[in-house]
Amino acid sequence: MEDPDLIRDQTLRQIAAAASPDALEQIRVAVLGRRGRLTEQMKDLATLASGERKARGAALNAARDAISQAIEDRKRALDAAQLERRLAAERLDVTLPARPEPQGRIHPISQTLDECIAIFANMGFRVAEGPDIEDDFHNFTALNFPPEHPARLMHDTFFFPPRPDGTRMLLRTHTSPVQVRTMMSQRPPIRVVVPGRTYRCDSDMTHTPMFHQIEGLVIDRTTHMGHLKGCLIEFVKSFFEIDAVPVRFRPSFFPFTEPSAEVDIGCSRAGGELRIGAGAEWLEILGCGMVHPNVLKNCGIDPEEHQGFAWGMGVERIAMLKYGIPDLRTFYESDLRWLRHYGFAALDIPSLAGGLAR
Ligand code: DAH
Repeated sequence: MEDPDLIRDQTLRQIAAAASPDALEQIRVAVLGRRGRLTEQMKDLATLASGERKARGAALNAARDAISQAIEDRKRALDAAQLERRLAAERLDVTLPARPEPQGRIHPISQTLDECIAIFANMGFRVAEGPDIEDDFHNFTALNFPPEHPARLMHDTFFFPPRPDGTRMLLRTHTSPVQVRTMMSQRPPIRVVVPGRTYRCDSDMTHTPMFHQIEGLVIDRTTHMGHLKGCLIEFVKSFFEIDAVPVRFRPSFFPFTEPSAEVDIGCSRAGGELRIGAGAEWLEILGCGMVHPNVLKNCGIDPEEHQGFAWGMGVERIAMLKYGIPDLRTFYESDLRWLRHYGFAALDIPSLAGGLAR
């Protein structure tokens, strides 16, 4: 017969030294299991006389309770320590910036359009959009292109095969048809910018069959050519982030505006490097004018009551100027090295307050 206190003391020491829940379980089985050291002592109780059995039974029960309690306490401590270690190992500082940076880049065209939209939105313009596949009415007729007028030919239009009624849909040659759609669906005052893709059957150093424009339209009762100039000069300064860009309005012709102008900005090509804002050369960036009364009429707006201005700008051209991209065709080659070099970080969203491009 073993002394219950001895069993208890020895077991408590083992429990205190147990380094893992597994080791603890082994101790429990060895002492309290079916063939455990203490269990065996309990079995022998039956052979004792009743007085002795009672005293020894109580001592054995006390030893068992003490051991069970110690195992439970030790287990809790070991579990807590294990959790602590895991938490420490898996510790993560969620306030750190994302690293490595996301791999994708924003294409310079998307970036440039977002910058233009940010500037015009700040002046109170809304974004309007229209379909890439247009009909003759919206792309030409409503915009005051007479039938057989040479300006239609100048647009190098991609036509779809004729429909049963003989008419042909086309890929819009400019964003101007969205002017028509906007005026036919909204009442003045109107103030919209129209970013989008445009198409012409033309491909060389300075032309791609698909390119982008951003169109603007203002219609109300009082807007005049002075407002047009102020608006576009302000845009050029904001976009190029140079206060002293020379801007020149040169008389021109478009069927849908009267008077019409083209806008050039001053630049220099000294040393083979194109620089904006200084030097003796001019670069055309957009066409504009006062909306022609016929266009207003075609769209159901009375030109005796309403007037306004419009412009259309080539997005690739201003992107090349601002970001020093020398070759137009590289925009659409999807060369990853080019995209990494000229692309923009996805989280740098252009805004006038936060900066247009970083
Ligand atoms: N749609 C013209 C083009 O593609 C550009 C343009 C010129 C748009 C004058 C306008 C404008 O809205 O007023 O060449």
